[in-house]
Amino acid sequence: MKVLVTGGLGFIGSHTVVCLLNEGYEVVIIDNLSNSSISVLEGITRITEKSPEFCKIDLRDKSKVADFFENHQDIDGVIHFAASKAVGESVKKPLLYYENNINTLVYVLQEMRRKQLTNFIFSSSCTVYGQADELPINENAPLKKAESPYGNTKQIGEQIISDYAKDHEIFKAISLRYFNPIGAHPSAEIGELPIGIPQNLIPFITQTAAGKRDMLSVFGNDYPTADGTCIRDYIHVMDLAQAHVVALERLMKNKNKKTYEIFNLGTGKGNSVLEVIKTFEKETNQKLPYKITARREGDIISAYADTKKANEELGWKAKFNLADSLKSAWKWQQKQV
Ligand code: WQD
Repeated sequence: MKVLVTGGLGFIGSHTVVCLLNEGYEVVIIDNLSNSSISVLEGITRITEKSPEFCKIDLRDKSKVADFFENHQDIDGVIHFAASKAVGESVKKPLLYYENNINTLVYVLQEMRRKQLTNFIFSSSCTVYGQADELPINENAPLKKAESPYGNTKQIGEQIISDYAKDHEIFKAISLRYFNPIGAHPSAEIGELPIGIPQNLIPFITQTAAGKRDMLSVFGNDYPTADGTCIRDYIHVMDLAQAHVVALERLMKNKNKKTYEIFNLGTGKGNSVLEVIKTFEKETNQKLPYKITARREGDIISAYADTKKANEELGWKAKFNLADSLKSAWKWQQKQV
């Protein structure tokens, strides 16, 4: 079975490619390398001893997308990661985000329709919920007005897929709403490669512990939580990657109950920023310098997943805990120059 993975050299995409190759799938990767490096492909090969086909294509170029599908007639499934994903950047560059996250999705779906391709997995995010009224968050939670253009592109993307699945009898799709992906492959051959100053908590922590950053800023400790800092559901990227294989197999083996399904992917456990810091220090024996600063605009107070649907219907459950994820992130950081 051949699977197209768009954004396959990105953080979650590359780990998913490893899991697909290890399960015996043939993989074709599309990536424009705007937020990744060709070295990730070498890392995938070192881990799996396989060299998946790689096509450097910018999916914003509609004709290039058509050419790809013209030259690849035997695609059995598509996992679509390719998108820009920095919340803060999306506020500053909304049009870049709408073009890169929406147009590319439409072009891929148009080619799937032309070729009558059926199995599609979409990389979505818990950001679509905004600050949920009820915790843990289940898939029926109402979608609030997105806090950022990035979050809006995920809501719009899901709607596009839902509308297309409704009017196309053979097309089947699953959207996976990730909570907070962290960590790295246990071999430390691949991991998170933030470009510039990390926006996300874990890479900032590991770079601070490695001496690349002077100090971590904790964005606010006056939230209505036990220790005043925000709570998130930090899920190991390997658990997340495996979930994509399980979801694809659900579609390929026609186990899906509806033509379009949605699953939350988290551990079901929330941890505060201070708890993450303490766990990191304990697991790595590194002292982490940090200071409390002002809140970051757009941050929600607390988000963690109700994992019941993913556990019982998808048949997937996160295996790793926060300590495992932080240790793998640190091992990966120590290999960076
Ligand atoms: C986590 C917590 C910060 C950095 C975003 C997107 C989500 C997904 C993951 C793409 C928050 C605090 C952070 C720092 C801090 N992205 N923090 N100091 O914002 O929950 O989720 O990234 O799919 O869609 O919304 O993740 O890691 O940025 O922040 O105190 O230097 O850490 O305030 O409470 P977030 P994050």
